[in-house]
Amino acid sequence: MNHTTQRRYAIVGTGSRARMYTRALTGAHRRHGVLVALCDTNATRMAVHNRIVAEAGLDPVPAYPADAFARMLTEQAVDEVIVCTVDHTHADYIVAALEHGADVVTEKPMTTDLDGLGRIERARERTGGRVTVGFNYRYNPVHRRVRELIAQGAVGEVGSVHFEWMLDLRHGADYFRRWHRDKANSGGLLVHKASHHFDLVNWWIGARPEEVYASGRLFFYGEENGRRHGVAADYERGHGAAAADADPFALHLADSPDLSALYLEAEHEDGYRRDLNVFGPGITIEDDMSVLVRYDTGARLSYHLTAYAPWEGYRLAVTGSRGRLELDMVEFDRTVAGPTEENPVRGMPAPKEDTTSRLVLRRHWSAPEEIEVEVGGGGHGGGDTAMLDALLGRLDDGIRPDHADGGNALLTGLAANASMASGAPVRVADLLAGKGA
Ligand SMILES: NC(=O)c1ccc[n+]([C@@H]2O[C@H](COP(=O)([O-])OP(=O)(O)OC[C@H]3O[C@@H](n4cnc5c(N)ncnc54)[C@H](O)[C@@H]3O)[C@@H](O)[C@H]2O)c1
Repeated sequence: MNHTTQRRYAIVGTGSRARMYTRALTGAHRRHGVLVALCDTNATRMAVHNRIVAEAGLDPVPAYPADAFARMLTEQAVDEVIVCTVDHTHADYIVAALEHGADVVTEKPMTTDLDGLGRIERARERTGGRVTVGFNYRYNPVHRRVRELIAQGAVGEVGSVHFEWMLDLRHGADYFRRWHRDKANSGGLLVHKASHHFDLVNWWIGARPEEVYASGRLFFYGEENGRRHGVAADYERGHGAAAADADPFALHLADSPDLSALYLEAEHEDGYRRDLNVFGPGITIEDDMSVLVRYDTGARLSYHLTAYAPWEGYRLAVTGSRGRLELDMVEFDRTVAGPTEENPVRGMPAPKEDTTSRLVLRRHWSAPEEIEVEVGGGGHGGGDTAMLDALLGRLDDGIRPDHADGGNALLTGLAANASMASGAPVRVADLLAGKGA
């Protein structure tokens, strides 16, 4: 079903990620929805978004401070809110939007703790509003093919999943430069980042997590590790620091007019520094994590996330009663220090445009069968474009991740965090009952 009526969208959290939605609503998806308002704690960043609106030939939209969110919903008769704020604030905005009678698209993770999860579930039950979680990786064509093959029984009943994800020295490092580095903001990478990956596994094998054991540590980034490995440089932040010039881990905001406008020129309002030294103090998240999950189907997952790898991509193997499906995905085969023609901003992760994948089905007693799938263009292997088409075009494609999917992905991460803290396996039911959190 394809609806063509225009919905009235507001965006809360007008940082980097939100630009994708601002561009979509003022460009390719203009016929589906109209952007009617922006909301953020930082007026400078909202003005950057309004410049995107103006470049699309439209009038600027009203920009509301964060404490006027409820007023914005009423004054602008908002139908749907797109939440792109710092992770730990998602739940407040999701609940307030639902209570107002609006639907929500929230960036992942849906929230960062059990309290937020409970509040979202109760608000949803009370209001009947719809919450969609921006798990764009589901929309990547290769990932859709993996799901189809498993659903068609290509490997039989799934016994286990092995999943290793590598973030490289630029992308991985980026989580250690800003708010993500504080677990209170992001829930750590098992919530912030792995929620994508745990959602994919839940979706691929049609299962929910029951028990989780995890072990992780901060091994590479941070003050002490940087010194121990001989990679630390002595400065607080990249911008304006002579010592950052020769450091391949430093982000240089001034190299980019976009980053300068969004962050450097917005700092005077809230002191948000986007370019802290990844080998500086104050990091409370892990960069190397192993997780074992038992699902309600009986399937097992062994998962590993590394945030300091020399290349970026992932390896997946799904082994079942009739065979094994293997996916090798290379997003960057090497990480280059310093500026390049494609990526002139020193320290910034480059857009992933040369992704290659190899999907192989190995049935019992048979020769390996290579499965051709075209990797899509644009962000996240085509996932972003396809997700926007589905979400803003309101397609009934059966993929749209909802609040329950957001919750199941989050629960794996929260149980993993609880397990890392206690050293023991954590049952999701116990976590929800307030035991073992
Ligand atoms: N799905 C993906 O692939 C993907 C990619 C990048 C980011 N994200 C998600 O998007 C969200 C934003 O990430 P980002 O990289 O754009 O971060 P960012 O730091 O660039 O932007 C965050 C914005 O939130 C604003 N903000 C902070 N606290 C607020 C509050 N209490 N009320 C209103 N606004 C507030 C900040 O001023 C800033 O403008 C995160 O949840 C992140 O997980 C998802």
